[in-house]
Amino acid sequence: MAPGFSVTRRRWSLAAVFLLLLFQAVCNAQLSETFYSASCPQALALVKAKVDEFITADRGIAGGFLRLHFHDCFVRGCDGSVLLDSTNKTAEKDSAPNLGSIRGLSQIDEVKAVLEAACPGVVSCADIITLVARDATVAIGGPNWSVPLGRRDGLVSSKDEALASLPSPSDNFGQLVRNFAGVGLSVQDLVVLTGGHTIGRSHCAPVLRRLYNFTGVFNSRDPSIDPTFANSLVLQCPQNKASNVIAMDTTNGTFDSVFFNDLLANRGVFTSDATLLSNPFSLAIVNASAQTPSFFLLNFAAAMVRMGNISVLTGSAGEVRRNCSRTNNI
Ligand code: HEM
Repeated sequence: MAPGFSVTRRRWSLAAVFLLLLFQAVCNAQLSETFYSASCPQALALVKAKVDEFITADRGIAGGFLRLHFHDCFVRGCDGSVLLDSTNKTAEKDSAPNLGSIRGLSQIDEVKAVLEAACPGVVSCADIITLVARDATVAIGGPNWSVPLGRRDGLVSSKDEALASLPSPSDNFGQLVRNFAGVGLSVQDLVVLTGGHTIGRSHCAPVLRRLYNFTGVFNSRDPSIDPTFANSLVLQCPQNKASNVIAMDTTNGTFDSVFFNDLLANRGVFTSDATLLSNPFSLAIVNASAQTPSFFLLNFAAAMVRMGNISVLTGSAGEVRRNCSRTNNI
């Protein structure tokens, strides 16, 4: 190959990398904490007031809001697609990880109604979910962070995509790492964001296999669970009671780092929690989170911003829905 040609090609490659980086920077720059300052200056205060109202009525709903944001962002990015209804039951909310367990949908509709009354057609449902998750976290004692805004709402919601994109409670470490890497999140993000299990509840369904059918053999139990904790789970989750609900840490009404202390005592509820102890690097982050609560809280907040940036729609992509459960053309 002629030397001149290879130099030209290298220049072109460098230019392509530069353009790609510039493109990424421009995309990220489109989200801004002051996005609604002119178009709806009262938006953030209105969302916070509604969230405080919901939490006063039911502290537990904070967990529902946080999980809703996670499930929105991991499927097609943070585009409000988790909120869309479908006539033939093929939307994200109809998928196994969401059906019967996702919470907070009617409250998001209420927030949207307040914002539509104040500033019609301005604040996206994707931004509402993101703000509600932050405000709910703060309301129950968790960390605060500034939320970059300006997400637009997607037009598509697919049950199959939700099933393929959301991690499973029986996933092992490698599966979780690959899942998070797929949306640009690190192992540290995986560990601290799993700390979201410091609040909220689970149904018994995701733990029955660990309690009664671990090796596919009737009545076999996951030997890694602390026996006393396993006995208490058995009492709360009899084999035929998949719909009973349990707490995921010992202080589930408060956003704190106790989840990690519980995890280190082999009292994590899911395989996906317990498996974070199986790798030296993730174990170090679990230890740091348990020993230094501020480490967890600060890194959780930073990871929430990164999660909230996953594949966002900006500019003229998508739309700002008038009603969060359907696209504007319906
Ligand atoms: C690492 C992979 C994860 C898996 C496999 C997982 C799985 C689950 C499952 C099975 C439940 C119980 C749902 C039910 O039966 O009602 C749950 C609840 C919850 N998850 Fe996760 N989760 C993961 C990561 C996360 C992340 C990243 C967050 C947020 C940052 C989060 C926040 C929550 C919250 C707050 C709840 C309680 C929901 C409620 O109270 O309604 N989880 N998770």
